[in-house]
Amino acid sequence: MRPIVDEEMIEAGISALRNERLVMGESVYKFEEEFARYCGTRYAVSTASGTAALQIAFQSIGIHGDDEILTTPFSFFATSNAIIHAGAQPRFADVENSGFNLDPEKASKKITSKTQAVEPVHLYGEPARMDEFLAMAEERGISIVEDCCQAHGAEYDGKKVGSLGLAGCFSFYSSKNMTVGGDGGMITTNEEELADAARSFRDCGRASKYEMSRVGYTSRLNTVNAAIGRVQLRKLDKWNSLRRGIAKLYRREFKGVEGITLPPEENSKEVPVYHLFVIRSEHRDGIAKRLEENGIESAIHYPIPIHLQAHYRRQYGFSEGSFPVSEKLAKEVLSLPMHPMLTEQQVSLVSRTVREAIHQDS
Ligand SMILES: Cc1ncc(COP(=O)(O)O)c(C=O)c1O
Repeated sequence: MRPIVDEEMIEAGISALRNERLVMGESVYKFEEEFARYCGTRYAVSTASGTAALQIAFQSIGIHGDDEILTTPFSFFATSNAIIHAGAQPRFADVENSGFNLDPEKASKKITSKTQAVEPVHLYGEPARMDEFLAMAEERGISIVEDCCQAHGAEYDGKKVGSLGLAGCFSFYSSKNMTVGGDGGMITTNEEELADAARSFRDCGRASKYEMSRVGYTSRLNTVNAAIGRVQLRKLDKWNSLRRGIAKLYRREFKGVEGITLPPEENSKEVPVYHLFVIRSEHRDGIAKRLEENGIESAIHYPIPIHLQAHYRRQYGFSEGSFPVSEKLAKEVLSLPMHPMLTEQQVSLVSRTVREAIHQDS
């Protein structure tokens, strides 16, 4: 990854520092308005991080106590930590047999009378199978909160992610498809009550300046970050399209190569944004080693599924074998270099190195 910080963003940040209130300045409201318009929702409420966006979204829909929220164990751990922060119980279902996202059928079997919400994650920028999740929500009377932290601008059935469920939650951490020049988050929704509750939670629980209606947090997005985010948002579509172009180059380079599985292809329903370009291979460690020897960075998202992290083992009694598809993915996935400025030559070099590693390893 390589975050992009250009002169326009620097100028926007400086101008906000010079001319606006540092907290809840005009840029924050403008950024929220523009982000909502971009996603096609009525409201967007900014927060201090993606984790805070998820936690606040859960609390704003009234989750508490014994309530359960069902999600995937194959994600960044904030996906389920946010459920715990919200005071609810995380529950997991395994991911699809091919692909990386929560499997709607497996999720459906895990729903209990305590399940209040399902949290699909659009992992790596690949939209989850929202039709099936939405049908399930309707049928079982539960809410869908989308974890869009890796999928700014991705589309499902002609709609932007974050506009499909009851709420969508985004992260602007510096590695994401767009950043605010540091940490930040956003909740998108069409529900006025949910948006009002989220605005209160992120601002100390305020009902008005001196009145408090809930036990809230200091979890606002700073004005300077919102100003930078506004510039980034204007460039997001261009960057996403460059990412899709780079993914196409990788696909061409790996056509017919045995020993690796490429990520699911774009189709008429699902438009991914390639936050990451993730291949699967039994030769994963050999490939990563060879890339490193050649000065090429790669990464593993994620080597340990959430249910096998220490807290989750201890607290919920998970062990190896609980979610076999996620556990297999953790052993096989490798994220290759992916950012909008990657050149065709760089993609060629990375791909050649991967092919050589497979050849050497087989
Ligand atoms: C899938 C997913 N969920 C949640 C988060 C949490 O976002 P943040 O780091 O902004 O708290 C992240 C990113 O870091 C993420 O990738």
